[in-house]
This record gives sequence, structure tokens and C-alpha cells, in this order.
Amino acid sequence: MRYSVRYMREDDIPQVTEIDREAFPSQWPYPAYAYKRELNNKLASYIVAVEDGATWGNGQGNHNGSILQPLFRLFRQPRPPAEIEAPLQCIAGFAGVWRMLDEAHLTTIAVRGSRRRRGIGELLLVTVIDMAIQGGASVVTLEVRVSNQLAQTLYRKYGFKDAGIRKGYYSEDGEDALIMTTEVLTSEAYQSLFRPLKEQHARHMAEQESAAPVATAAT
Ligand SMILES: CC(C)(COP(=O)(O)OP(=O)(O)OC[C@H]1O[C@@H](n2cnc3c(N)ncnc32)[C@H](O)[C@@H]1OP(=O)(O)O)[C@@H](O)C(=O)NCCC(=O)NCCS
Repeated sequence: MRYSVRYMREDDIPQVTEIDREAFPSQWPYPAYAYKRELNNKLASYIVAVEDGATWGNGQGNHNGSILQPLFRLFRQPRPPAEIEAPLQCIAGFAGVWRMLDEAHLTTIAVRGSRRRRGIGELLLVTVIDMAIQGGASVVTLEVRVSNQLAQTLYRKYGFKDAGIRKGYYSEDGEDALIMTTEVLTSEAYQSLFRPLKEQHARHMAEQESAAPVATAAT
């Protein structure tokens, strides 16, 4: 299976909402209109990992902008309009990032349950970090449930460190959030961690791709 990353579009929202509900069952679902609003928020960038060759739903009346559009215009320009009728690509995961002063704040990241442990979460995180560097952010920050050890494992792998606790941050159940942050992204220390991890991940994805059978429709 081959996965690529592009900006989220409006016709991705039903799949993104589906992944969101599955990934965060205890949280208030983030409604479609909120994603639509986010896509027009100049300080926000949302990306999706698409499964090449796989389609989703009945493929009716969708629009397909180029997946080769450069991602590195973070925080700078609006997304180009959609143009060509095409079937919906299968979205395997998504992530969102907000520009906050000189920080890039990871607001969300999730992978479809059936597509986890294939390196997609890491692909999204690597892309967010690259976008933050290209966009001139000095660090990437985030909040994560204190109980979400799995996500914290991913963040720690990429050099995120604990930076504090927000008491009762999650309004649904009052759970605390752990605040995590990278070092300065362009620092030698961070780059010497990030670069080899990114290369290793790219090799892993390439090996996985050559070993996998042809893609089928999403489930
Ligand atoms: C967190 C999440 C995005 C990871 O996505 P994923 O595609 O399964 O992760 P990857 O396959 O890219 O794994 C990357 C790294 O994450 C960590 N990781 C992911 N799944 C893990 C698991 N089940 N157990 C332990 N570590 C895990 C590991 O460090 C892994 O690196 P490794 O393969 O070298 O061990 C996914 O589990 C998810 O969508 N969870 C629900 C939503 C969520 O909690 N989002 C975070 C909100 S702050």
C-alpha cells in the first residue's frame, strides 16, 4: 500500500468525521461544519494521508485537486480550488495544525482504526513537523490526554517533551491534558534526532509498499 499526504479538501470531510468519531469516541464529535470552517481558517492547515489506488463510498460527484500540490505553503496562501470530477480517495488518517505566534500547534491527529500501525500516524507527524519548519515555526506543541500513552509514545519518539499539565482540559470527562513541545526545530539537537527518524520512516514505508498487495476499497 502506498500513502501520500495532501491538504484536506471539503469532500474529505465525511471520511475525516468518520475517522474522528472512531478515534475520539469519548469526545464531542467535531461536526462537519466545524471542519468546513477550519478549512477556511487562514491560521489552520489540515492534511490527510490518502491510500493510493483505493476509493471510498460510491465515488459520486467529488472533486480531486492535484495530490502533488506542495504542502509547504503552510500559513501562507489559501488552498487552490478543486477542479476535476473524480472518485473519492480513501483517507487513512488526518492531522491539523494551527499557527500560534511562532509555534505550530498540533490540534488533532488520527488514523483509521483498520489502518493503524502501518506508519501513517508517523507520516502525518513528520509532515506536520516539516511544514512547521518550512513555515518558520520555532517549535511544535500539542496537548494529549494524560491517559493516551500510545500517542505519547509516538510524540516522544519525535522528541516531544513534557511541558506542563492543563487540569481538567477535556470538558467531556475532566481529564487532564499533558502539554508537550519539541525543542527548537532548526536546532542541531532537534535536527540530529528528526532527520534520521524521517529517513528511517521513509525506508520503512517504501519496504511496506513493495511488500503489499494492490489496494482495495476502504473499510
Ligand atoms: C496515535 C495514532 C495517530 C498513531 O497512528 P499509527 O498510524 O497507528 O502509528 P504508526 O504506525 O505511525 O506508529 C508510529 C509510532 O507510534 C507509536 N505507536 C503507535 N501505535 C502504537 C501502539 N499500539 N503501541 C505502542 N506504540 C505505538 C510507536 O512509537 C510507533 O513507532 P514504532 O513503529 O517505531 O514503534 C493512532 O493510534 C490513532 O489514531 N489513535 C487515536 C487518536 C489519538 O489518540 N490521537 C492522538 C490525540 S493527541
